[in-house]
Amino acid sequence: MEKTFLMVKPDGVQRNLIGEIVSRFEKKGFQLVGAKLMSIPQELAEKHYGEHKERPFFGELVEFITSGPVFAMVWEGENVIATARTMMGATNPKDSLPGTIRGDFAATVGKNIIHGSDSPESAEREIGLFFKEEELVSYSKLIAEWIY
Ligand code: TYD
Ligand code: MG
Repeated sequence: MEKTFLMVKPDGVQRNLIGEIVSRFEKKGFQLVGAKLMSIPQELAEKHYGEHKERPFFGELVEFITSGPVFAMVWEGENVIATARTMMGATNPKDSLPGTIRGDFAATVGKNIIHGSDSPESAEREIGLFFKEEELVSYSKLIAEWIY
């Protein structure tokens, strides 16, 4: 089953949105298979956002993501990578629709509440950066029969 890496950013943690965000993915039918509240070391932040190294906002982005605890998660389910991106909404909250996480809770691109992998390759890379294999669980829920 497909897996993705999702993370409540420091603004989401400070604003008490962990439960709200977890709840949305649970209700959708996805399954949480790993999670931790953690502070991101500088080096990990730079690796995680490595694709944006040359962008003008890189410094601020790394500073922001290391500014407080984040809630890192791995979620599993059919098409979870693309569906989670849809549920997150557009990167810039001025474009993200009501009903999406960013559309409902974020006001500016610099503080947009949630991160989510954008492809199978980035999901694999990001899960590997944040989680050891033994930190992820594999189990079946009876409810899965009512989703798939
Ligand atoms: P990006 O990977 O393009 O967006 P997403 O988080 O939707 O995958 O950018 C990573 C983060 O960088 C984004 O969530 C917020 C920040 N960012 C800015 O601060 N300014 C910008 O102009 C862009 C494009 C992103
Ligand atoms: Mg991205």
